[in-house]
Amino acid sequence: MVSSIYSMGFVGIDSFLITVEADISRGLPSFDIVGLPDASVKESRDRVRSALKNSGFDFPVSRIVVNLAPGDVKKYGPIYDLPILLSILAASGQIDEISKDSVFIGELSLSGELKHANGILPMVIKSKELGIRNVFVPYSNAKEAAVVENLNIFPVKTIADIKNHFSGKLQIQRQPITKIEFPEKNYSLDFSEIKGQYDAKRAIEIAVSGGHNILLIGPPGSGKSMLAKRIPSIMPEMTFEEILETTEIYSILGKLSAENPLILDRPFRAPHHTISPAGLTGGGTIPKPGEVSLAHNGILFLDELPEFSRISLEVLRQPLEEGVVNISRVKSSLSFPCSFILVVAMNPCPCGYYGHPTRQCTCSQRLVNKYLSKISGPLLDRIDLHIEVPAVEFEKISSNAEEEKSLSVKERVLKCRTAQKKRYNSDRIYNSKADLTKFKDSFKISDSGRKILKKSFESMGMSARGYEKILRIARTIADIGDSREIQNDHILESIQYRTLDRKYWR
Ligand SMILES: Nc1ncnc2c1ncn2[C@@H]1O[C@H](COP(=O)(O)OP(=O)(O)OP(=O)(O)O)[C@@H](O)[C@H]1O
Ligand SMILES: [Mg+2]
Repeated sequence: MVSSIYSMGFVGIDSFLITVEADISRGLPSFDIVGLPDASVKESRDRVRSALKNSGFDFPVSRIVVNLAPGDVKKYGPIYDLPILLSILAASGQIDEISKDSVFIGELSLSGELKHANGILPMVIKSKELGIRNVFVPYSNAKEAAVVENLNIFPVKTIADIKNHFSGKLQIQRQPITKIEFPEKNYSLDFSEIKGQYDAKRAIEIAVSGGHNILLIGPPGSGKSMLAKRIPSIMPEMTFEEILETTEIYSILGKLSAENPLILDRPFRAPHHTISPAGLTGGGTIPKPGEVSLAHNGILFLDELPEFSRISLEVLRQPLEEGVVNISRVKSSLSFPCSFILVVAMNPCPCGYYGHPTRQCTCSQRLVNKYLSKISGPLLDRIDLHIEVPAVEFEKISSNAEEEKSLSVKERVLKCRTAQKKRYNSDRIYNSKADLTKFKDSFKISDSGRKILKKSFESMGMSARGYEKILRIARTIADIGDSREIQNDHILESIQYRTLDRKYWR
């Protein structure tokens, strides 16, 4: 007899429906799984056999063939254990045929318990899109799955639960919807702890307000890492859509907690400089998202930028530009979202004191050039704002003056974001990404503004991208100042943030 049951699978972040068919026929006892299973799917056989026996069912002594369709997509991982087991039970008449409005996902232990699975959220979202009504998931994934509304989520602890459910003995209770509750925000790191550095603070505020990338350069101990780590405290909350997108990525990597399965805070990722290119952008035999995607909707902070390998830095170019990272495979290509603000920090030379007003730099000019040349022109061009973080003066560091708190900076950021939301009629488009042709009226500059820009463009040997970045930053500065028009002051300030590369990367 042949039976079929629905399950879900995923490659990258894309989920799809899988039909699990079981055929039990007379012949020499055997158990085969076909339909492009990888080694971990093939191991299902042993788990399913033990789980069946240990849950009080009979393992049919017959020829068993299980087919996972579609047959042209490679199946990875142990999540097909549950549907394989159920299809065998149905084909051997031990349970009734299961209706097609349900999907089953889960890895089994030998005793028949369901284990926590990765990628549940994207699979449940896709199930809903496909019109599935019931999704049976491992108990520990139930809260994660129940984020999706208008769908019945059934948490399954053991095979016995399913047996009782379908025999009508004891129904599995539906998982209540997981409500999003934002905990009281209590950032331990606050901008008020940083003395002085007003220019850097201003540049960071502009970067966060308009979604611009930023580079901090300066001598050791000037507070670059300190500044970067405090950026989360001025970021606006994520929207529900953003929360879901970011959580999906953490779901695929199995980085969600069973109790609090939503990523509610914007990510702040600070990978170490020894990270591999694949670790940064994603990859692997079974393609997994990398740090750029873990930073989706948040911040990617690369501290000590020149210490990263050159290849790691170069592979960042495409994701930075497009907000998605494409991973090519022999037969297919897949993509992960990665829209983030890039924050990078660095010293100007190996000893750290190149260009320092009072301390002598001990590096030769050649060494300085070699160090700086690790950051290529195209990468530098993609970083919108460049700001110098000089050593803090004694008067500032020893002063008892109160510094502005993160909360009050955040209020201005929110105001600026609201202005952009109104202009672009979207809370996902910021000045850094807006279509300049479509919104050309908002990016208009006066004749005198044009003259200022022309002079800088020609004297600085600016690229077309550099010109565009200046316009975008000027727009954000105008928005912070609540100004409808981009004024000359805004352009002048904006140009300042593009002049550092001339000082260091001559
Ligand atoms: N502006 C500041 N206000 C208060 N403390 C500061 C300031 N700048 C630096 N510090 C102190 O100096 C320490 C080092 O700062 P931080 O690590 O941010 O420097 P850095 O610029 O990242 O240096 P490096 O280039 O060596 O990485 C901080 O932990 C903090 O105690
Ligand atoms: Mg540092």
